[in-house]
Order: sequence, then structure tokens, then C-alpha cells
Amino acid sequence: MSPINPAILQKYPAIEDLKKRAKKRLPLIAWEYLDMGTGDETSVSQNEAQFKHITFKPQFFKGKQTQDLTTTLFGRTYKVPFGVSPVGFTGIMWPNAEQILAKTAKANQFPYSLSTLASQTPETIGPLAGDMGWFQLYPPHQAELRNDILDRAKQSGFGPLLVTADVPAPSRRERTARAGLRIPPRITPFFVWQALQNPHWTMAVLKNGLPRLRTIEKYAGSGALQDVMQFVRNYVGGTLDWEYLKQVKAYWDGPVIPKGLLHPEDVEKALDIGVDAIFVSNHGGRQFDGAPAAIDVLPEIAKVVNGRCPIIFDSGVRSGLDIIRALALGADFVMMGRPFMFGVAAFGEQGGQIATEILIADLKANMAQLGVTTIDEIKALEPITM
Ligand code: FNR
Repeated sequence: MSPINPAILQKYPAIEDLKKRAKKRLPLIAWEYLDMGTGDETSVSQNEAQFKHITFKPQFFKGKQTQDLTTTLFGRTYKVPFGVSPVGFTGIMWPNAEQILAKTAKANQFPYSLSTLASQTPETIGPLAGDMGWFQLYPPHQAELRNDILDRAKQSGFGPLLVTADVPAPSRRERTARAGLRIPPRITPFFVWQALQNPHWTMAVLKNGLPRLRTIEKYAGSGALQDVMQFVRNYVGGTLDWEYLKQVKAYWDGPVIPKGLLHPEDVEKALDIGVDAIFVSNHGGRQFDGAPAAIDVLPEIAKVVNGRCPIIFDSGVRSGLDIIRALALGADFVMMGRPFMFGVAAFGEQGGQIATEILIADLKANMAQLGVTTIDEIKALEPITM
């Protein structure tokens, strides 16, 4: 991983700066796909806004301190307490985002999650992520198809398995509809004009091709994008139940983690099945606009779990301080979707590393302000929620 020019971090010190640059470099359909929520996008804005109400009383007179960000999860040591959440249909936003982020994760020793509906296959990404790879399953109806995908992920080196629970049906996607996103993208005069306005994105697409869902292509007729999407609509998702989760748990020999739980009763049922962690998330506000901000339910879920398994958290995390807030409210590990994609869209190959360095710098700076030096000390903090 080539070192990042300090001038870039000087000019782009926060994830928000990457977001602004990403917006300028993406055509409208790609930006809308990345940034959108659903409905009025209350859930997206609340995910971020609710973090601002969590504060701490810092403690001083601690002498010289050095921050240690390492943390252990599922018996592995990660160098930082955060990682990359699964993001599907990646090719529309930035071709090769999976390669970029998997390499970043391996270089920095934090998890990278590959979506079933990513543009790249587990076979391509597994070796790049090394032992930092997590795989995310959107549940195919047929056990045979599911097991084939799981076998491919396992053979490609993926360890923990995220089973996404919070997509019982496709969400309404008003912003991408208004922007005219069609699958496959239609080459209209507006599209061509947009492509000309965004040469970095256009060059990346010309080099790597239009978006595909390569993991699923194998099972779906011609492999053309519209056939693959139709196949997904017909045969993947919409039928997930507890029995299915049990079957996945029995089949996969690594940690199994249901992703997107918000209700305490679901948490209890998942624990009964023997899941290895609970992933608290509202899918970044992309599925159900009536969902609470994920950070608001975290303390309640932490109480229910009561140390029986680790808690992973995402939705709305935008800074090192937010990571601290989530850890202090009960998370053991914190993931992010959009922030890493903002980095890639803003800076291409170097974008994952730039996002990582911003987050680490912010995490360390805020730990220093608080007077804590380890992740365990963060978890022992007593946040004030206003
Ligand atoms: C997602 N997310 C997601 N989750 C999942 O389990 N499988 C997937 O394929 C996708 N695809 C996807 C695409 C895009 C563009 C985004 C932004 C998100 C949800 C993702 O894993 C994560 O839960 C959210 O992104 C967390 O919220 P933040 O960090 O984006 O605020």
C-alpha cells in the first residue's frame, strides 16, 4: 500500500470531505445509488444525527499516553475496532471497489465484507482480503444453490458469515428511480452527458466494464445483467426464517452472524440458535424509513445480549468519535458502508487507505482527549445520552 501524501489528509481531514469529493466525481445515478435511503430518508439522517447526542466527561492528569487500537473478535486480532460492511452492486459506484477495499483491509488488518450481490466473486476477492475476509449472504431459496455459494466463499478463504436479515423485500428506492437508474443502465443522452462530466468514473468504467453481479452469473441463464437481476428477484431473499438460519449455522463452520437485528425478541431467538455475534444495523437507513436510528437501540440490545456474544454495529458511523460512541454504548466492533465507498469514489485506488487513515487519526485523537488508551477502556466509559 503506497503511503498517502500528507497534503491529501490535510485537505480532506474528515469522511465528510471524502463524501463531498465523491459526489463531484460520480454521475448522478451512481451517487444516488450510494447515498440514498428510502422514503423521506428520516432513518438515514437520524442514524447520523443521534450520534451527536452522545457525550462523555473526559478525564485528565493521566501523564503521557499511547493509544492501542487492537481488538480481538472470533479469536482473531484486528488492528483497529472497525471494518467494511458489505456493499452490493458496487460496480455502478466504482468498478473494482471490492479489490481496492479488500487490499486496504488486508494491509491494515481489519475485516472486509463481500456482498453476495457485489460485482466481484469470492474467488477474486478472497485472496486479496486474506484472513480479513467476511462473506455476506443474501439467502437463496434452494439449499443447493446456497451451499454452492457458501462452498465458494469458504474455499476462497472467507471466515465469518453475515446473514442479512433486514431485507425481507426490496425497499422502495425513490431517489434512484427519479435519477433514472435502470438495470442494466440505459445509455441515454443524459447518461452520456453525465459520463463526460465525470471523467474519472468514466475511465474506471471503460477500463473495467459496466457493472455485473459476477457471483450470481454462474446460476442465471445467459449471465447478462438483466437475467441475473431477474434471477435474484425470483430465487434470492424474501423467504428467510429461523429454520433457514439454523441450516446455515449447521453448514458453515465459521462464525455466523445475523445482520440487521433491531428487536430484542429477534436477538433472543438468534441467541437460542447459537449465533456467534449479533449485528445491530438498520442497513444504513436503506430499507425501512420507520426504523429507529441504529445507535438508539444499541444499549437495549447490549442489555439483552448481556455478554453472551459479541455485538457488531453499523449505520451512521462517520468518524473515530462515532466509533468510540458505539463501543461505549455496547458494541464490540464497528462497521461502515458508505464512508469507505466515499473514499473509493473520491480517490480511486488510494481511497480506502485515505478513509482508513482519517478514521484512525480521529479515533486516536478522541481517545487522547478522553484519557483512554485501549478499546476495553472505551467500552468501560459511561456516555451521557441527551
Ligand atoms: C449496503 N448495505 C448492504 N448490506 C448487505 O448486507 N448487503 C448488501 O449487498 C448491501 N448493499 C449496500 C449497498 C450500498 C450502496 C450501501 C450504502 C449499503 C448496507 C451496509 O452493509 C451497511 O449496513 C450500511 O451501509 C451501514 O450504514 P452506513 O455505514 O452506510 O451509514
